[in-house]
This record gives sequence, structure tokens and C-alpha cells, in this order.
Amino acid sequence: MSDLKKIKEEFLLKLNQKLNLTDINQIKSNLFGKNGLISSQFKKIGSLAENERKKFASDLNITKDELQNLIDTKIKQIQDAEIIEKLEKEKIDITLPERTFVRGKIHPVSQTIDEISSIFSEIGFCVEEGPDVENEYNNFTALNTPDNHPARDMHDTFYLDEKKEKLLRTHTSPVQIRTMLKDKPPFKIIAPGRTYRSDSDQTHAPMFHQVEGLYIDKNVNMGHLKGCLNYFIKEFFEVKKIKMRFRPSHFPFTEPSAEVDIGYEIKDGKIIIGEGDKWLEILGCGMVHPNVLKNVKIDSTRFQGYAFGIGIDRLAMLKYGINDLRAFFECDYRWLNHFGFDPLDVPSNYRGLSR
Ligand code: PHE
Repeated sequence: MSDLKKIKEEFLLKLNQKLNLTDINQIKSNLFGKNGLISSQFKKIGSLAENERKKFASDLNITKDELQNLIDTKIKQIQDAEIIEKLEKEKIDITLPERTFVRGKIHPVSQTIDEISSIFSEIGFCVEEGPDVENEYNNFTALNTPDNHPARDMHDTFYLDEKKEKLLRTHTSPVQIRTMLKDKPPFKIIAPGRTYRSDSDQTHAPMFHQVEGLYIDKNVNMGHLKGCLNYFIKEFFEVKKIKMRFRPSHFPFTEPSAEVDIGYEIKDGKIIIGEGDKWLEILGCGMVHPNVLKNVKIDSTRFQGYAFGIGIDRLAMLKYGINDLRAFFECDYRWLNHFGFDPLDVPSNYRGLSR
């Protein structure tokens, strides 16, 4: 048998085995590679007698084309089979029912913070932030609460070091200092965030939320403060009329200082805001003390203003009928599911705060 025939027969035997792409590429290079079987036959042409040469060259070319075609066809077959196998494996059964998935809810405290921000932004307040870990100076000293001031004891502070220089902020008031130090007056900001005191019962948690308010400009007075808070309470509780009273109080960083109560009553076990003869304390406020302005290098003969600090969790409890503060922070999934809000239910003054 001629060499060519032998090559072809052996090739056909191999081709009928089960092959993958690597195998077929190997076979291809064994035939057509630099020293491949077919390539070597071509090198032989020159040494043949002239009468044999033409026929041999023509047979060789035919065989070469034949083998090449068979290989190409085989490669195509293998590739097609691979695609079919892949499609088969990755088949998606679109008739299967959807998997039940858990939809997240917005925590009532987050929702309340969004509502508060929306209400204050409407009358020109910007939102500021400060860190939970504060230094003693911003939390107390700069706020006219020097060392040994009795107000420091009342705060049940969590200190973070022996020297009592770092602490978990006991209120959001240090954001007043941070804001005034980094910019020039006027200021009109609110600062919602976490605050910490070593205290825990039905109405106190060691971590709770406040929103600070600060308005510093020329000719700001207590009347503006009352008007602002009156507007806020009405908007927040979505009522037309509100009963509100200012009680004289004391904070080292405001003078005069007041605590604000709102009137409410309980009807059929439900709290009704703005009616009745019961009072509930919801915030502390006052005119910013000249010493505080001095500490942040603001001329208190030209600029003055008011500040307030509102307990957010309490407002949320009142508005959404939650009676134990601790439930907010227990991460009980059933509770969150009941009291939480839809993520798309973003509060806005135009559409309504809560529906
Ligand atoms: N920081 C005070 C507190 O936590 C509240 C407050 C803020 C009072 C601003 C007056 C002015 O009790």
C-alpha cells in the first residue's frame, strides 16, 4: 500500500473514535504541522523520478484537501455538540414558580429621621453630621460646660479612655461646635444622629437618637424659635392645631433655656396629639449662649440665634403608637415587619409624610 493510502487509513480510524477539540487539533498538527506526515510527503516530491512526480504531487494534493475537509467537518461537529450540551445543561425551566424572597423594611427611626429632615429642609435648614465618638471639648467644654460642671454628671457619659478625653457623644449638640468652627455665619442646620448615655428602662436606651437644630444670623430671637418649633410639630404630627408650652429650664449652652411640652390626650387607648390636658416633654431649646459663640470665634454682638435638641425615638413612638423604646433596638424581625416602612415610601412634604 502506498504511503498516502496508509496515512489516510490510519487517519480515518482515528477520526472515528470519540474525540474532543484538543484531540482533533493534535491529529491536525500530526498531519500538517512542520514535520507532519503530509508535510513530509511534500518534501519527498523533489527526490522523485520525473515521470512519477506529477502523479504523486496531484495525489498528494487531493489527499491533503480530503483530509483537511474531513478535519474541518469534524471540528464543526464537535463545536456544535459542545454548544448543544451546554444549552441542555443550562436550561432554565421558566414554568417554575418564583422563589419567595424577603423584602426589607425601613426602620421607623430611619423613616422618622427622613420625615424630620424633609420638614426642616422646607424652611431652609441643611443637614449636618458629626461622629459618634467625640472629644470631651466638643461635647462639653466648648458648649459652656466646663470640668466639674454638674451638667456633666447628669449625662451618664460613656468615656472611652482613662483620661476622659474621648467619649460617645451624649447629645448631638457637639455638631453645633463642629459646624460653626468650619464655616462663617449665618448657619441654619439640623443634625440628626445617634447619642449615648448609660441609662436603660422603658423610656431610656443607652443608645438613642436626637436631632439638633441651630440657627445663627443677625436679629434672630426667641419668637423665631417658637414659630419654627410650632411649624415643625404641626407638620410632623400632621395636625392643624397644636398645644405647646415652653417651660423655663437650664442648659449650660443656651440662655434663656426652655423645655417644650406638647398637649395630648388618650382616647380609646390611642394617643391624640394637640388636644386634651396632658403634657409630654419632647425637646430642649434656647438662645445660644454668648460663651458658646465666643468659643467658636463668632462675634455675639453681631450674631445670635437659637438651638434645639429633639428626642427622635420619642417622636417616633408617639406618631406610630410604639410603647416600649427598647423594641426599636432589639432587631426582632417580626416587629420590624410590622412597624417598618416600604423602601419606596419616601417621606416628602408634598406627597404627605406618612400614609
Ligand atoms: N443637648 C440637649 C440635651 O441633650 C438638648 C438641647 C439642645 C438643649 C440644644 C438646648 C439646645 O438634653
